[in-house]
Amino acid sequence: MPEKLDGFKIGYVEIKFPAIQAPMAGITHSPFRILLSNYGKPGLFFSEMLSARSVLNEDFSNSIYLKCIDTEKERPIAYQIFSSDKESAFVACERLNKEKYIDIVDFNLSCPAPEIAKKRKAGAFLLSDLVLSHSILKTMKKALTKPLTVKVRIGVKEDKGFLKDLVSMVEDAGVNAITVHPRLVKDKLKGRSKWEYIGFVKDIAKIPVIGNGDVKTKNDFFKMIDETGCDGVMIGRAVVQKPWIFGEISGKEFNIDAVFLIELYSTMLTLYTSFFPPEKAIGRIKEFTWYFSKNLKFGHHFASMVQASTDVENIKSFFKEAIKTCF
Ligand SMILES: Cc1cc2nc3c(=O)[nH]c(=O)nc-3n(C[C@H](O)[C@H](O)[C@H](O)COP(=O)(O)O)c2cc1C
Repeated sequence: MPEKLDGFKIGYVEIKFPAIQAPMAGITHSPFRILLSNYGKPGLFFSEMLSARSVLNEDFSNSIYLKCIDTEKERPIAYQIFSSDKESAFVACERLNKEKYIDIVDFNLSCPAPEIAKKRKAGAFLLSDLVLSHSILKTMKKALTKPLTVKVRIGVKEDKGFLKDLVSMVEDAGVNAITVHPRLVKDKLKGRSKWEYIGFVKDIAKIPVIGNGDVKTKNDFFKMIDETGCDGVMIGRAVVQKPWIFGEISGKEFNIDAVFLIELYSTMLTLYTSFFPPEKAIGRIKEFTWYFSKNLKFGHHFASMVQASTDVENIKSFFKEAIKTCF
C-alpha cells in the first residue's frame, strides 16, 4: 500500500500533514490538543463545535471552549461553529476572523443530535435546506479573510444527485474545503462509514476533500486515501483512544505498555485539572476515559471505576494500579 503523506492547501493555509483531528464536543478542547501534540501533531486541529452565539458571548482569553493554552502548539486550527441563521453566523465569523491564531472557520452541516438538528434547526438539519445553507455560507464568507470549510453528512438518503447539488452549493458559496462523513443523518454513528461516497465527492469536487469515519489505525488511514483519493483523512474516536495515532501515522514508533499508558493518563489528568475548574474537569476526564479504556483488556472495569468517581483526587488515588491490573 503506498504511504501517501502529501500535504494540501485549504485556501492559503498549508496543511503539511494530511491526518486531521476531528471536532468532538466535550473532547477536543485545548488540554486535549496539547496532549496530542506531545505524541505527534495532526496536520490540522479542530475546536469543539461552538454555537455562533457562544463565540460572541464568551471571553476568548478565559473561555474553556475558546481559549488555547499554547496558540503556537495548537496550530493550524479550525474553529467549528453551528448556526441556523446568517446574521449570527456573520458576527461570529467577524469575531473569529480577528483572532490571529485561528487559521480556518468550519461550518457544521453534519451534527444529527436532536438538541442541534431538531431544536435549533442547525447542523445536519441544514442539509434539508440547501438554499438556506448557501445563504449562510455566502454571508460567512463576507465576514472572513480566513478560509471557510464545511463538514457534512451525505444527507437523509443515499442519493448521488443530492451530493452533486451539495458540492455545487458549497463551491458556489466560496467554501475552501469539504469534510465528508459518509453516514446518513439518521445513522448517527451506527453502521459503516460508506467511504465510496468520499470517493464520489472527490471525483466531482474542485475543492479539497477530507474523508472521515471509522479510521481506527494507521493502516485504515492509508486505506482511505488509497480507496477514495481524498486529500486529507479526519480521525475522531480513535484519537481519543490513542492520542499517539498521529505520531504513529507520521512514522514514529511507540511501545504501548502499562507504563506508557499510565504516563499518558497522568499527563492528561495534569493538563485537564490545571485548565478546567474541578466541576468541569471531572466530566471531561470521564469522557476521555470512556475511549482511552479501550486500550485495556479489562477496560470496562477501569472505565466504571472512573465513572463512579465524584472527584479527581479519587481517580488519582487508583488509576496507576488500575491501569497496571487491567493491561
Ligand atoms: C463524542 C463525540 C462528539 C462529537 N462532536 C462533534 C462536533 O462537535 N462536531 C462535528 O462536526 N462532529 C462531531 N462528532 C463527529 C466526529 O467529528 C466524527 O465525524 C465521527 O466521530 C466519525 O469519525 P470517527 O469514526 O473517526 O470517530 C463527534 C463525535 C463524537 C464521538
